[in-house]
Amino acid sequence: GIRSVARGSGSYLPERVLSNDDLARRIDTTDDWIVQRTGIRQRHIAAEGEFTSHLALKAAERALADAGFAARDIDLIILATATPDQTFPATSVTVQAELGITRGAAFDVQAVCSGFVFALATADAYLKTGAFDRALVIGAETFSRILDWEDRGTCVLFGDGAGAMVLEAVREDDAHGAGLLTSHLRSDGRHRTKLFVDGGPSTTGTVGHLRMEGREVFKHAVGMITDVIEDAFAATGESAASIDWFVPHQANRRIIDASALKLGIAPEKVVTTVDQHGNTSAASIPLAFDLAVRDGRIKRGDLVLLEAMGGGFTWGSALLRW
Ligand code: ACO
Repeated sequence: GIRSVARGSGSYLPERVLSNDDLARRIDTTDDWIVQRTGIRQRHIAAEGEFTSHLALKAAERALADAGFAARDIDLIILATATPDQTFPATSVTVQAELGITRGAAFDVQAVCSGFVFALATADAYLKTGAFDRALVIGAETFSRILDWEDRGTCVLFGDGAGAMVLEAVREDDAHGAGLLTSHLRSDGRHRTKLFVDGGPSTTGTVGHLRMEGREVFKHAVGMITDVIEDAFAATGESAASIDWFVPHQANRRIIDASALKLGIAPEKVVTTVDQHGNTSAASIPLAFDLAVRDGRIKRGDLVLLEAMGGGFTWGSALLRW
């Protein structure tokens, strides 16, 4: 069989930082309220004229450099985003063109905050068929563009950024245990009105703004996250004790802590960036993953558990031996 082995990782954050105090000068909120409820202290915001594709391209270039691959080595690009540059074409083809790639295929995946896990699982499935050899999997978002900056219940939660991973199809015998071991995806559209954007090309003809019933999201999050992680453990025989790192979607400190606690994952194995990045939706997992690779926490051979949950609802898990 074929294994999808992760060869490199990269990420990019826009330069501008917006602190909780900056927000408190514009809306009725406080640093204390935001930190206590969410753990968020600051978030990065894309500059005017800086699009999702620009963030994605920078993360992709860094992931390629980390892998030691040239752009021409890539024959599949899957980009997860809920904030594409345009309704169409897919943002992935813009990234493809900017990288100078003219072969293979590029498409976007829309699973909101679960997008990166969905994209990773999709790339893995294609690599395993033998249809493609090397994939660039990207999560990139500019949620600042779809926030209602008057709504204090949502605008304090999100930020912009991008992360990417390079996967290569490798014969199982040559993978030496590395690669994507399992992935599990779920969705349940009955929850689609709890976290959504109130516009779109086919409904209002506008881009719209993010709307959320925060308590409802919170209520379902921990159960869904832990269920789909139990699936990953059951499929592989791995456990909270055997994983080296837990890289969850970064929505909220309380959701992350409650999930780790329920699963019995030691706090020192949890990679947390929500304090610095806010919720960057599909970008949050590859951003957190890359940060922990850069600072030397995640090392080659480590077993890493990824998990996400978001609008739809959608949710998913993946186990990766780096
Ligand atoms: N600053 C100050 N007060 C605020 C703010 C703010 N930024 N936002 C809301 N409030 C007020 C509300 O108006 C309300 O006031 P009231 O009691 O006078 O009406 C009060 O705080 C409580 O509001 P709730 O929404 O009930 O607050 P809650 O404790 O549920 O916290 C929060 C809100 C942080 C959004 C929480 O529900 C949450 O974390 N939910 C999870 C949502 C999430 O993480 N979504 C991310 C996307 S989904 C995903 O990625 C998994």
